[in-house]
Amino acid sequence: MSLKRSQVSKQDQLKQAAAQAAIDYVLKNLEDDSYLGIGTGSTANCFIDLLAQHKGRLKGTVASSEASAQRLRDHGISVFELNNTGGVQIYVDGADEANPALELIKGGGGALTREKIIAAAAEEFVCIADQSKLVDHLGDFAVPVEVIPMARSYVAREIFKLGGEAVYRQGVVTDNGNVILDIQRLHPIATPKALEEKLNNITGVVTNGLFALRPADLLFLSTIDGVQTLKPSH
Ligand code: 5RP
Repeated sequence: MSLKRSQVSKQDQLKQAAAQAAIDYVLKNLEDDSYLGIGTGSTANCFIDLLAQHKGRLKGTVASSEASAQRLRDHGISVFELNNTGGVQIYVDGADEANPALELIKGGGGALTREKIIAAAAEEFVCIADQSKLVDHLGDFAVPVEVIPMARSYVAREIFKLGGEAVYRQGVVTDNGNVILDIQRLHPIATPKALEEKLNNITGVVTNGLFALRPADLLFLSTIDGVQTLKPSH
């Protein structure tokens, strides 16, 4: 029991350290008239909480989920609609898996579509994660797919033809009013970009949690020996 508790708190410390590295990066690089994109999840929450001390420095933020938007507002940080900003300069978010090319699996928290939209609209995508998220090949973590509700069974059958097993995330409705299928049995994903495209081409799919066509530009990876700054290896 006590071992478990100390393991949990160690992982929390690693998340905090990755978030702090991103805060330092943002304070140094974010231009005064630019917006900051904010992700979703426990590591992104660490970032939001640390950001609160610097809110006077921000023009405003764009959030990838209602939960993050609420957390930002609770800290008194302004949140804007992406449509009203003309884009964001830096987007900071966590990941479920990252490979050395900084291709990611995201969407464990169900916010993948808004995350992908902000990543697409961002000049720079900064990922923050603890060392458990770095893998040689993506796919051990199930790839989430956001689906229009009436297409759920059809999409699951199409995913089966691609070699995956789609598991319905019961009871979850996304911020966009859709459902999520988690695709298992894909490991190792040999060509993440090709799979990302194939999944997006299934009618009824809104988007999927592979971030390979638009990978991260920078990863602050928190390890027990400190925070490493990784750029994509090509
Ligand atoms: C949410 C996400 C998160 O970034 C991802 O699930 C990682 O979360 P955490 O920082 O809690 O491990 O994509 O949709």
